[in-house]
Amino acid sequence: MSKKEKTAGTKKATKPGKSKKPTEVVIVSSEAWPWVKTGGLADVAGALPRAMAQAGSKVRLFIPLYKSIDRKKFKIPAKGVKFSVPVSARIMEGSAYMIRPSKGLEVWFIEQEHYFGRDGVYLDHAGHDYPDNLERFAFFCRAVLETLLASGRPPDVIHCNDWQTGLIPAYLKTIYVGVPFFDKTGSLITIHNMGYQGRFHPSQWHLLGISWDHFHPGGLESYGHINLLKAGLIFADIITTVSPTYAKEIMEPDGGFGLDGLLRHRADRVHGVLNGIDMDEWNPATDKLIQSRFNHKEMKGKAECKAALCEELNLAPGDGPLLAVVSRLADGKGMELLAGCLKSILAKGGRFVLLGSGDKELERRFLKIASSSGARASVTIGYDERFSHRIQAGADILLVPSRYEPCGLTQMYALAYGTAPLVRATGGLNDTVRQFDLTTEEGNGFKYEEYSEAALLSKSLEAMEFYLAKREKWNKMVRMGMQEDNSWIHSAKMYHKLYRLAADLSD
Ligand code: ADP
Ligand code: GLC
Repeated sequence: MSKKEKTAGTKKATKPGKSKKPTEVVIVSSEAWPWVKTGGLADVAGALPRAMAQAGSKVRLFIPLYKSIDRKKFKIPAKGVKFSVPVSARIMEGSAYMIRPSKGLEVWFIEQEHYFGRDGVYLDHAGHDYPDNLERFAFFCRAVLETLLASGRPPDVIHCNDWQTGLIPAYLKTIYVGVPFFDKTGSLITIHNMGYQGRFHPSQWHLLGISWDHFHPGGLESYGHINLLKAGLIFADIITTVSPTYAKEIMEPDGGFGLDGLLRHRADRVHGVLNGIDMDEWNPATDKLIQSRFNHKEMKGKAECKAALCEELNLAPGDGPLLAVVSRLADGKGMELLAGCLKSILAKGGRFVLLGSGDKELERRFLKIASSSGARASVTIGYDERFSHRIQAGADILLVPSRYEPCGLTQMYALAYGTAPLVRATGGLNDTVRQFDLTTEEGNGFKYEEYSEAALLSKSLEAMEFYLAKREKWNKMVRMGMQEDNSWIHSAKMYHKLYRLAADLSD
């Protein structure tokens, strides 16, 4: 075991203190908006680097150059930096291309035709994980480190995100441990979702380039498999997750997906930092993707957005609330409960719009409900960024009934667009939504505890009744929600402190 590996367990100050800003920050992600997006990770990896750069750091963001990324549109240059990476017994060549989309920010695209020149990001056409995902992202992690080496500018910290980048902290403390260039580089990994850990069969170990000595339960092994998120959690100097409530939940068996013991063991390194939202992208006063613009003082535009949306979707006319979902139809999102009680919501006068994709059975169930709803419900299966803005602007209530939700961004977009979020009290939903109290007039939406169809239905009916009977109070509630500051400013400051701490811990 090297000197650095030992420091991962030693007790140094692990509370973010007052420290100067790290200047050289590297953020690594498998997706980032506006270049490539499959979910909230992209929103975070697109917005956080910009917020960091605005606060004075020099930030380099690394993402793979997938086939879907439009090189022309994003002005990605033809000339790049060449590098090579050993993958098992082969040497794989690649190139890195850089653009400067805003002040203080460089975005680096890692090109490798064999790994990233295909249609999907993680999944093939049939919706199955690519069988070589371990190899693809092991290559990506080493490619990032090789490109940094070639740059001659050592980073103070490398901020990794999710399992796809979990090998970077491991590489820094194993195969790159004697490399002086990275001597003062700290590492931080953010967990965006414990439900996705990057688990692979041990027969693929040879592709990692790490000694087999690390395949044991105190290392990269987890229940007989290679676990790439675990690699990051073991070796990173600092671990963050995307909300304070989720930071507690992942240390319990229910939320830890098998890694809660490790997280409890490293509890002094774990911090919950709430995600922000990008107020330039998600601002109803300037949003060009929506029908009419509006703000908390002038809400006429919101009514126009609702009317336009209902017309576009051919929804039956009515005065009732428009309830909405914009979500991956995936495990944990609570969509099976919603499918179970949606007919009762519609029967009570609600209208409904859903945009989402994922689980084929759920897709079928929602489409079936819509087709027999008498135009009270519209279901669109697919992924459509523009449509998601129009839904947020036109709806009255956004439903997020998740079983677990590390942070959740759509409820914060809803708040910004004067749409009341209705959420289950879990993870970041719990930290961002407060139940409205009719007496004190405090609160910004609707929140319930129990994970059940009955609880979701009862809260939905309560919200619908409130909308119909007390419109003035409703308007007051959503106007207050629109004025909340859920921007990245506060959390970016927190990350600055944690970056410094990670750099200190790496010494
Ligand atoms: P998760 O990352 O678990 O999917 P988040 O709430 O953090 O959940 O982020 C989801 C992001 O993906 C949001 O920006 C949301 O608007 C977007 N999104 C989800 N499904 C769709 C879809 N079908 N079309 C467009 N955007 C979507
Ligand atoms: C994950 C989580 C989601 C979170 C997003 C960004 O996809 O499921 O809750 O908001 O990452 O951190």
